[in-house]
Amino acid sequence: MPASTSSRGQRDPGYYADGQTFVRYYRVLREHLWIVGLCAVLAVLASVVYVAVAPRKYQAEALMEAQPSAPDDPVLSQLPVQHQSGDPTTDILTAASLVTTNEVANAVIGYLRLRNTSAGAVLSNVQATPVGQTTLVAVQAEASTPQLARKLANAFVTERIATSTAVMHRALAVLIPPLKASVAAIAPGERNGPGTLGDELIEMEGYLTEKDPTLGVAQLAALPSASYTPKVKLSLLAGLLGGLLLGVGAAFGFNALDPRLRREEQLRSLMGAPVLARIPREPVQKNRRPLLPAELSFVSHEGYRRLRTTLASRATGGVARSFLVTGSSPSEGKTTTAINLAFALAQSGVRVILIEADLRRPTIAGSLRLQPNFGTAEVLTGEVELADALLPVTMVDATLQVLVAARAGDDLAESLSYSVARDLIADAKELADFVVIDSPPLTAVVDALPLAQFADEVLVVTRLGRSRLGKLEDLVDLLSQQGAAVTGVVLVGEAPSRGATYYYAGDDGPGPKERGRGQRGGSERSRTTESARSAASEPERSAGTGPGRSGSTGSGRSGSTGSERSGTRSTRY
Ligand SMILES: Nc1ncnc2c1ncn2[C@@H]1O[C@H](COP(=O)(O)OP(=O)(O)O)[C@@H](O)[C@H]1O
Ligand SMILES: [Mg+2]
Repeated sequence: MPASTSSRGQRDPGYYADGQTFVRYYRVLREHLWIVGLCAVLAVLASVVYVAVAPRKYQAEALMEAQPSAPDDPVLSQLPVQHQSGDPTTDILTAASLVTTNEVANAVIGYLRLRNTSAGAVLSNVQATPVGQTTLVAVQAEASTPQLARKLANAFVTERIATSTAVMHRALAVLIPPLKASVAAIAPGERNGPGTLGDELIEMEGYLTEKDPTLGVAQLAALPSASYTPKVKLSLLAGLLGGLLLGVGAAFGFNALDPRLRREEQLRSLMGAPVLARIPREPVQKNRRPLLPAELSFVSHEGYRRLRTTLASRATGGVARSFLVTGSSPSEGKTTTAINLAFALAQSGVRVILIEADLRRPTIAGSLRLQPNFGTAEVLTGEVELADALLPVTMVDATLQVLVAARAGDDLAESLSYSVARDLIADAKELADFVVIDSPPLTAVVDALPLAQFADEVLVVTRLGRSRLGKLEDLVDLLSQQGAAVTGVVLVGEAPSRGATYYYAGDDGPGPKERGRGQRGGSERSRTTESARSAASEPERSAGTGPGRSGSTGSGRSGSTGSERSGTRSTRY
């Protein structure tokens, strides 16, 4: 049995924890893959720019052979050439150090006719090093062109030999005349032979036309084919690896600094309430207003119907229920959820009131194309009765009463006190079976906080990739400080999974229209969209824009109207 599994075949907790950590890291990386990619692309671009603009340097290498003279050599031991020291390593190091001297550098400058260059400057681009355990010295030269690099390397070898040769010749010029005189004094028959002065003289005179015999060119430098720096492939590879590393760091940093809701599991520990509905991400709309039922896909409709079913099942004994729809940040889909939940409830034939409590950024009137003269603010301040301010909105088979914020205003938001909130909810529950209240993000503005205390359910709308975990935590804290608990979560933004339509359709029991469509052939996408579109059309606008229309509103919310509507229902509990 592997060490990582227990006797029951379950995973060892330690192993599992490590696995979880790894999975978490993997997910953070996958979610921030764009940062990693961006960093990698930027770093590679930076290295491309560096390779393009960095001054190029070429390196060429020539080899010089150094064989210092033996101590018993009768002629060379008298000459100023390199003599063996007894330690070959020291000898080759000495030979190498003698290449990069000022004297050789000046000879190179003269030989190559390098103008405006000092010996120090030339020497800074040249180095001579022994090659392993050999008698060779590698002379490497760097320059801005491959030609100059080759010339420099070769010149240092040839000029080192030339300067040494010149010194040797000068010494010979001093040694030869007295030796000649000594040889002349010897009888001609005894002048030559091994070990005689005559032979010594001949050898010395021979060196006069030779180069330093202890030094030689082993190999001249070849023309470098590629630049030594910048190294193109290495720079690009380093850019890519550096960018990836930077990207991974940035991804974790980003995740730590700005943790957003990325997965449903994050909600479990955070919210302490179940996810009651999962609403998929709909195609992006240009006008940035809440989505109406007619604009939602079949799967979204099913999500809201599922929410409706769960919430309705919690209602007991015909007592009206109120739901506050709130969230932690703007644009999470709160208003979309409030509208669609209200319509889903209304579709089942019950009396529903939708109240817009976001007085700072009201969007419902615009979305439903209502132009009321007064609304939530006037009801809150007591100028108008709730019943008179409600507008009936019908979408094919469902009518609900809507209290919209007629105008935006920060000052109006102040009027939502605890007693006003309590009365508003109580009044609305008198007039309807379900009251849905659309609120602003409570962590941004606390205006609607009193409503959370008196609403029967507090639904928090969260959106993948948008809701911030910190804000959600704040929201839960804020609500619990008010004695209000989150009772359900709506998760917006999940990518619709394959076959979701069939799962939801069977699970939640759609109306006959949708079920019939869901079972027919054809593409799933067109089928679901069509179904949703036909389920609800543009809202029929309320005729009333002042107190005068209260009569029509009243009839719209009466019990008899509810039973009247029930004849057009497509979905029932
Ligand atoms: N399921 C969804 N998929 C894609 N976009 C959505 C979805 N729900 C809402 N939106 C869009 O998000 C934006 C904010 O929606 P809204 O309901 O006004 O949020 P909130 O009330 O939280 O500010 C709008 O542009 C709306 O069209
Ligand atoms: Mg809103």
